Amino acid sequence: MKRFITPLQIKKAIGMTFLSALVLSCSVDPEITPTVNLDNIQPVIPDGWPTPVYNFENNPLTPAGFDLGHALFYEPMLSVDNTVSCSSCHQQFAAFAQADHDFSHGINGLLGKRNAPALQNLNWNPYFMHDGGINNIEVQPTAPITNPVEMGETISNVVFKLSNSSKYRTLFKNAFGDETVNSQRMLKALAQFMGALYSYNSKYDQVRAGKASFTAAEQQGYTLFQQKCASCHVEPLFSDYQFRNNGLAVNTFINDSGRAHITQLPADLWKFKTPSLRNIEKSKPYMHDGRFTTLDQCLDHYVSGIVSSATLDPQLASGIALSSQDKTNIIAFLKTLTDTKFLTDVRYSENYK
Ligand code: HEC
Ligand code: HEC
Repeated sequence: MKRFITPLQIKKAIGMTFLSALVLSCSVDPEITPTVNLDNIQPVIPDGWPTPVYNFENNPLTPAGFDLGHALFYEPMLSVDNTVSCSSCHQQFAAFAQADHDFSHGINGLLGKRNAPALQNLNWNPYFMHDGGINNIEVQPTAPITNPVEMGETISNVVFKLSNSSKYRTLFKNAFGDETVNSQRMLKALAQFMGALYSYNSKYDQVRAGKASFTAAEQQGYTLFQQKCASCHVEPLFSDYQFRNNGLAVNTFINDSGRAHITQLPADLWKFKTPSLRNIEKSKPYMHDGRFTTLDQCLDHYVSGIVSSATLDPQLASGIALSSQDKTNIIAFLKTLTDTKFLTDVRYSENYK
């Protein structure tokens, strides 16, 4: 049986960590660098959330495993010319999306064809990528590492480079008991880091837990959201993890067929995985190709931009009617999904260690 500790316990533990960091940083001995205590890295299921798809059953989450995954996520050696890390396209302040880039930028400034999505609460994802082309968090990193316009490297060469680094031999030993560097261990460690990217401390979550209340505008926005958006952006994760065509005009520059790219089925043309809306205020630009830069534009799309096609989701056949006041209120609600603790959690940051 796996032991899960409650979010409250986690919160207490994190609070203690910050407190001890504070005590250390105020202490008289300037030599002491405050380090982050990772003892509280544990699998989490916030109250009222569904059971996650990935639960670390065959990859026990440990502080040393998280630590290695963290180092790998920020490691440029994962790319062919040692310039691009996962964090080049997945930036913490942007909820691990790539801020202000419509298409992702990889090695040699090469452009990908899709917008880098936010990374959060990934354990609940049955599928990864906008078209769901990958279904296992432990396999996912092989895609960007080997993608010629992302990191352009081979797995065997990454393993070779890491095993020549004493830093990594030590980190692998700490995580897995000996210095052997191999792809399976690397992928398990990355899954530990990514799987531990939990976001459940937004104002919305506080309101849900009865610890805060919405303003009048946020509450009106929430009511509208539940009526018009929540059938696809299902609470509390804000995704149903289905593939749907939400009526975007086909981008003729990239001609992305979406889910059909994987299934080859005409019925799946232009369907994309419903994205979570958590931290949406911070993860612009929006949609699979980053075509919109503001939430206003996203809402205008639902009100007046829906393009009809054989695969358009029937719920959107006549668009979504919203007044400009409705839009303002929905955006006020969407901003309550911003989780500052997640966006600034030092355990996830580049500067940790
Ligand atoms: C060059 C930019 C770039 C780099 C580097 C990159 N990614 Fe991504 N990432 C993307 C894009 C773009 C997508 C969406 C791809 C798609 O839909 O086909 C994505 C998707 C993902 C997803 C799926 C998220 C979801 O909700 O479906 C995960 C997880 C992920 N990346 C993790 C990583 C890891 C781990 C690394 C490093 C090994 C990495 N990425 C490196 C751009 C990048
Ligand atoms: C029929 C299902 C459906 C409904 C209803 C729906 N959406 Fe979406 N939404 C999607 C899908 C699918 C995408 C992803 C499209 C893509 O990536 O190209 C999306 C994308 C978005 C995005 C961009 C997210 C990102 O990270 O890029 C926002 C913002 C958004 N929706 C807000 C809303 C709001 C607000 C409503 C209600 C007014 C709503 N949606 C109603 C399915 C839906």
